[in-house]
Amino acid sequence: MLNIGIVGCGAIGRQLAAALAGKKINAACLIGLCDRDQDKATALASGLKPRPKVYSLDALAQACDLLIETASMAAVPEVAKTVLKYKKDLLVLSVGALIDTTDWFARFAKAGCGLYHPSGAVAGLDGLRAAAVLGGLKQVTLTTRKPVFGFVGASYFLKRKIDPLGLTRPKVIFSGSARQAVKAFPQNINVAAAVSLAGLGPDKTRVQIIADPAAKRNAHTISARGTFGTLTTTTENFPSEDNPKTSVLAGLSALALIAELARERKL
Ligand SMILES: NC(=O)c1ccc[n+]([C@@H]2O[C@H](COP(=O)([O-])OP(=O)(O)OC[C@H]3O[C@@H](n4cnc5c(N)ncnc54)[C@H](O)[C@@H]3O)[C@@H](O)[C@H]2O)c1
Repeated sequence: MLNIGIVGCGAIGRQLAAALAGKKINAACLIGLCDRDQDKATALASGLKPRPKVYSLDALAQACDLLIETASMAAVPEVAKTVLKYKKDLLVLSVGALIDTTDWFARFAKAGCGLYHPSGAVAGLDGLRAAAVLGGLKQVTLTTRKPVFGFVGASYFLKRKIDPLGLTRPKVIFSGSARQAVKAFPQNINVAAAVSLAGLGPDKTRVQIIADPAAKRNAHTISARGTFGTLTTTTENFPSEDNPKTSVLAGLSALALIAELARERKL
């Protein structure tokens, strides 16, 4: 059994906890939860069967084999250090934190520990990884097209005193590197970060964000070219019923990765 702990009992933490406690993933067992707001962890634990324990971060890292971070980008350094202290593995959902200045991958590799992140709400990262492995990947662009209601309250529109709901045609509201996109549009961090990590890194990966009055749901298109040829994938995402901020595929991609890790451990 892969004994799993979850730190962060918000929307995505709840989704993963429910699937794991419900034994939807073979050979994976949810043993504990942790949140900086202990009431949230207790409330989540009490609704699950079997009921996981509520731990401090330190105790949870010690008790589990794999810790899943579903808290926030800001939480990642402390969580990563605690997991390394006990030589456990870590699955990070706040993927944007992994393209920060600290090379967490090198630190985990040096310690002999696993550091993982899910693909999230996009398809095609396997192709980017393959194209990049011998240096033949030349160009990657991620184009994120979102319905205008997704930008209500976004600082880009507030600063310019534009009502996104008043747009009558698609508007490119950001064009730059993935690193810049993560700073300017934190809502898009996970996809931009995952695409960067699979391919050309945060400075060479181009990102374009479009507010589209005709769009009904978030869509991510990856376009890449290199010595392998060209690659284009488009993923049109339904929002999660529990959490409209998150795409259904994001939670599922984390569960698929957990299933793979549990399977590898059994072998
Ligand atoms: N990679 C993906 O595809 C993907 C998908 C969904 C969410 N996410 C990321 O996962 C994270 C959580 O998303 P969410 O929608 O569940 O957020 P949320 O706000 O609903 O929940 C976050 C929870 O974490 C807790 N928390 C915050 N900081 C903490 C800390 N330092 N220690 C312990 N607990 C802490 C909060 O109290 C809260 O309960 C975000 O960073 C989000 O960007 C990634």
